[in-house]
Amino acid sequence: MNHYPHTAAMMQRGTDFLGCETAILCGAMSWVSERNLVAAISNAGGFGVIACGAMTPELLDTEIAATKALTTKPFGVNLITMHPALFDLIAVCRKHGVTHVVLAGGIPPKGSVEAIKGSGKDGGDTKVICFAPTLALAKKLLRSGADAMVIEGMEAGGHIGPVSTSVLAQEILPELASEHLIFVAGGIGRGEAIASYLEMGAAGVQLGTRFACATESIAHPDFKKAFFRASAREAVASVQVDPRLPVIPVRALKNKGTEEFTAKQREVAALLDAGSVDMGEAQLQIEHFWAGALRRAVIDGDVENGSVMAGQSVGMVKSEEPAADIIAELMTQCEAALAR
Ligand SMILES: Cc1cc2nc3c(=O)[nH]c(=O)nc-3n(C[C@H](O)[C@H](O)[C@H](O)COP(=O)(O)O)c2cc1C
Repeated sequence: MNHYPHTAAMMQRGTDFLGCETAILCGAMSWVSERNLVAAISNAGGFGVIACGAMTPELLDTEIAATKALTTKPFGVNLITMHPALFDLIAVCRKHGVTHVVLAGGIPPKGSVEAIKGSGKDGGDTKVICFAPTLALAKKLLRSGADAMVIEGMEAGGHIGPVSTSVLAQEILPELASEHLIFVAGGIGRGEAIASYLEMGAAGVQLGTRFACATESIAHPDFKKAFFRASAREAVASVQVDPRLPVIPVRALKNKGTEEFTAKQREVAALLDAGSVDMGEAQLQIEHFWAGALRRAVIDGDVENGSVMAGQSVGMVKSEEPAADIIAELMTQCEAALAR
């Protein structure tokens, strides 16, 4: 960190909170953020986060144990709030003494933040990080016990909100960043962008797309090749075809799978019309579609029919590099910008 004095000073609050050397999180990516990438990021001084996704509590248990075998550095676990076994997953995290839990996928259900933080008599001091799509919700989540926030703009890969990172940062950082820990995500490809968010008060940043093709990432070689070839404009947001069926948009590389999603929505909308599913079930079917499609691309390498989730920064991903080199490059660029 001696090479990066300005950056280290600006990241201090973030690194103190995360317990690592650089306040750069590798956001959880379903199927991609497993033991190998998570440990590589944390070993390189960043903060890796396991993507629990649709894993069962048993699978999460195994994944955490395997990650611990590969790193002694801190890492987090990302849990999706609508997972039917959320509280069992929280129990698994507590069993392993996971220090940071990231809650994604909507407003945390009642009692979940308390359960993570261990407000019971055997309580630990696990930190809870939540996503805030608006200033009002950020304030509410911080009041209800969240220790830090990630604000993520629509440039990001995977499930996205409607607002860009630059606007969210301007709306939220001046209001909250002096008193709270806010990490900025979405569309960050270079260290200069990190420098600008740190200057606006961010405690650190979260990147996904830039890390998806790290050497240590188990993503299929064809998934990685699709990233290297793609430009920003090919990472497009999915469209909602039926106004009655609100689907959270997903940013992924345009392919046959993107078109299949349109057909899937029509199919689910027809089931809604026929009364054979309710809205909750309809949305769950949509989420299952994404999980399956992402697996097909990441694990099987079917980049035509699967979902190649990627953010707009994909154009800046050119080759496979070790996680440590990506972090060093980002830090060098950030330091040069801050020194200027
Ligand atoms: C392939 C892929 C899968 C992702 N899966 C998840 C996920 O399971 N849970 C989650 O909270 N975020 C997920 N994300 C979002 C990332 O954690 C991260 O916030 C995002 O990639 C940051 O924006 P960037 O892609 O512009 O760097 C995913 C992103 C990608 C590219």
